[in-house]
Amino acid sequence: MRSVYEGILDMLTFFLSLFFTGVSLAAVDSFYPPLNHTTYITNASLGSYGGVFSAPSDQASPPPSEIVYNYCSMPHPHVDTYSLPQPVANHSVSAKLVYLEYLQRHQRRTPYNILPGGENQEYNCDNIHPHLFAAPATGGPPPLQVYAQTYTDPTNPFLTHYVNGSCQYPQLTIGGYLDGFQHGRDLRAVYGAKLGLIPETLHENDKRVWFRSSSSPLTQGSAGGVLRGLWPEYKGPLPLHQQASSVDTVNRGFPCAARDTTLDAIQSSPEWDEYIQVTAQLRDHLADLFDARDSADWLETWDHFADNFQARLCNGYNLPCRLGDESQCVSKEQAFTVFRAGDWMYNYWWRGNANVTEYIQVIEGMFIAEIARKFEAVRERRSDIVYSHNFVHDGDIAPLLGALGIRALRWPGMAANIAFEIWETSAGGFYARVLYSGRAIETIHGTLEWIPLTKLIDILSVYIPEDIFALCG
Ligand SMILES: *[C@@H]1O[C@H](CO)[C@@H](O)[C@H](O)[C@H]1NC(C)=O
Ligand SMILES: *[C@@H]1O[C@H](CO)[C@@H](O)[C@H](O)[C@H]1NC(C)=O
Ligand SMILES: *[C@@H]1O[C@H](CO)[C@@H](O)[C@H](O)[C@H]1NC(C)=O
Ligand SMILES: *[C@@H]1O[C@H](CO)[C@@H](O)[C@H](O)[C@H]1NC(C)=O
Ligand SMILES: *[C@@H]1O[C@H](CO)[C@@H](O)[C@H](O)[C@H]1NC(C)=O
Repeated sequence: MRSVYEGILDMLTFFLSLFFTGVSLAAVDSFYPPLNHTTYITNASLGSYGGVFSAPSDQASPPPSEIVYNYCSMPHPHVDTYSLPQPVANHSVSAKLVYLEYLQRHQRRTPYNILPGGENQEYNCDNIHPHLFAAPATGGPPPLQVYAQTYTDPTNPFLTHYVNGSCQYPQLTIGGYLDGFQHGRDLRAVYGAKLGLIPETLHENDKRVWFRSSSSPLTQGSAGGVLRGLWPEYKGPLPLHQQASSVDTVNRGFPCAARDTTLDAIQSSPEWDEYIQVTAQLRDHLADLFDARDSADWLETWDHFADNFQARLCNGYNLPCRLGDESQCVSKEQAFTVFRAGDWMYNYWWRGNANVTEYIQVIEGMFIAEIARKFEAVRERRSDIVYSHNFVHDGDIAPLLGALGIRALRWPGMAANIAFEIWETSAGGFYARVLYSGRAIETIHGTLEWIPLTKLIDILSVYIPEDIFALCG
């Protein structure tokens, strides 16, 4: 039960967020901005476009009062906001949920990209222990449970242009872990207690469930938190499936030269030139502030600055200042412009460019094929699995959303999630509903609230390569 006090706090947060974003939340849909023009980037009055870019350092993110884009902790299915598919809700169809394919980005973390000149603030990860031990599958002896304790040695000369503290970059933060735990609890309430799909208890080799992650510690650490929220009483270890990293079908595992040539083509268009040109002044300013003048990686796209600022705000830190000069800091307005540029970039990479079909194929096509095969197995009643949960990256979620034809694609935030629900009607037909971060996804094919499963497979099939070797070159 939520207390009245929590309700009042949520309202206060809501009105404060109106004040800080500069745009009335009531007037915009924070999930679907007008990303098709660079005025979205240059119009400073758009602020965060109704999005949230902050989270506490050592606690779970506050529960949202409504489903808004939250880069630090994207919404997910929750009993307070979940509704049955319309035809089921209004009893025009009698149907039962039979399968859930769930994909999520890892939870919040430290940045990948440390400012080239060094950071004016240290990151602290003492409050979370990334465990590292391996154990025999059967028998003993059991391992000593060692964990990574990152530290900085002040005599290390390279620290001068890096960052102090006790974190790896990237790594899951305690806030990310706690958000993951809540994420799992909320899924259990919807898909377990309410809909009876997710089993209440598990055993180690349970055939009804399947968990997969990339080979990154970020996604593995997230899985530990989320799955604990799902099964608070479970004892012992549990398999988290992975493919070998060099051939992994997620997180750009398998080698494919065409990824780079296609991206070069995408980033050689007049639209991309305009994107670079309208943001030139801000880029120059930030490059001066943070010694990024000679770092092409920081200048060619907005990925690195956005990542750096997001990680700070999403873990309770301030935006950065020039090293040794606390009077020259990034302003909230500048950060919001960087985030809008990041949104534009994601929409362009995965929706707006002329080479998008091929780009999605070379990045995510093999994973999309795996998902489509699982849907076929459900349709042919060959699937033992009822619940599959994949812990992946923004670079996996974004092409999937592109393949679904999302109407506008903001950068998928931390724990951004796609829930493919498959329903079987009493007449024996299979239908799908697709939720993006807790809402039926709006696409160029309409809102995916209730579509024949075969139609969903058709939509995805466009992005399954016929011959990946020929395509990759
Ligand atoms: C951009 O999208 C908005 C709605 O999101 C639409 O009204 C407008 O016509 C689009 N503009 C272009 C140039 O496609
Ligand atoms: C900027 O956005 C505001 C709020 O949506 C809008 O009223 C204004 O017309 C926009 N300005 C430009 C130049 O597009
Ligand atoms: C139930 O909802 C569906 C989808 O919105 C609609 O097409 C149908 O007409 C509704 N039926 C009734 C009986 O309200
Ligand atoms: C790290 O901390 C030391 C000691 O406080 C300080 O001298 C140094 O400038 C810091 N380095 C960075 C990159 O923040
Ligand atoms: C990208 O698309 C353009 C326009 O359709 C095409 O001419 C070009 O060959 C494509 N480039 C790549 C690398 O696919």
